[in-house]
Amino acid sequence: MSILKFNKVNFTDGEKTILKDINFEIKKGDYVTIVGPSGSGKSTLLKLCNNLISPSDGSIYYNDKNITEYNPVDLRKDISYCLQIPHLFGETVMDNLSFPFKIRNAKINMDKIHELTYKFKIRKNILDEKIINLSGGEKQRISLMRTLMHTPDVLLLDEVTSSLDVENTSIVEDIVKDLNDKGVTILWITHDMEQSFKYANKRINLNSGELKELEVIK
Ligand SMILES: Nc1ncnc2c1ncn2[C@@H]1O[C@H](COP(=O)(O)OP(=O)(O)O)[C@@H](O)[C@H]1O
Ligand SMILES: [Mg+2]
Repeated sequence: MSILKFNKVNFTDGEKTILKDINFEIKKGDYVTIVGPSGSGKSTLLKLCNNLISPSDGSIYYNDKNITEYNPVDLRKDISYCLQIPHLFGETVMDNLSFPFKIRNAKINMDKIHELTYKFKIRKNILDEKIINLSGGEKQRISLMRTLMHTPDVLLLDEVTSSLDVENTSIVEDIVKDLNDKGVTILWITHDMEQSFKYANKRINLNSGELKELEVIK
């Protein structure tokens, strides 16, 4: 059984074909990296996975059920997406980290917030910091921490280490590897060839909206 399956998926915008006849299957626990030139359709492919956008043709299945049959809000709790350009809101870091609890009508779990702050090795005084005072790399990590406040079934990452230095990139790679070891399925867009091979067992290589093969690398 596959956790995610694309069957003859096309995505077009008017005359322009952005993704063409995409077919692949991903199994639970796979760690898939997605590579390809800018504009090849990588972000479009990820947005299709949790129904942020819909295919023009073809079908996408999550646990063998068409994703259109899921409630979109529930689907996005199971399949979460961390954006290429972090979108933080409100005034402070805490406004962002408490958000995942608020949308679930749950009590804010400070232990979880502190656990992730520790794992990401991010400065402890950051919680009360104003968003406008954060560096690009801090914004990227806060956005990822917000995504990981609840562990998803499938984690979609769009170039989430592009503003991070080598050390912080490695911290994020290890956190994601640890989640994968615990059973989380990973789809990670990266421009970094070394990163695309480091922990992944499969690789998607997109070129002008086409996928030749799902490369098995481990
Ligand atoms: N919703 C959309 N409507 C029209 N064009 C789009 C849309 N989304 C992406 N594109 C175009 O589709 C192509 C692929 O975009 P994208 O998926 O962002 O590529 P990548 O992430 O590989 O850089 C680009 O030419 C982009 O301009
Ligand atoms: Mg992109």
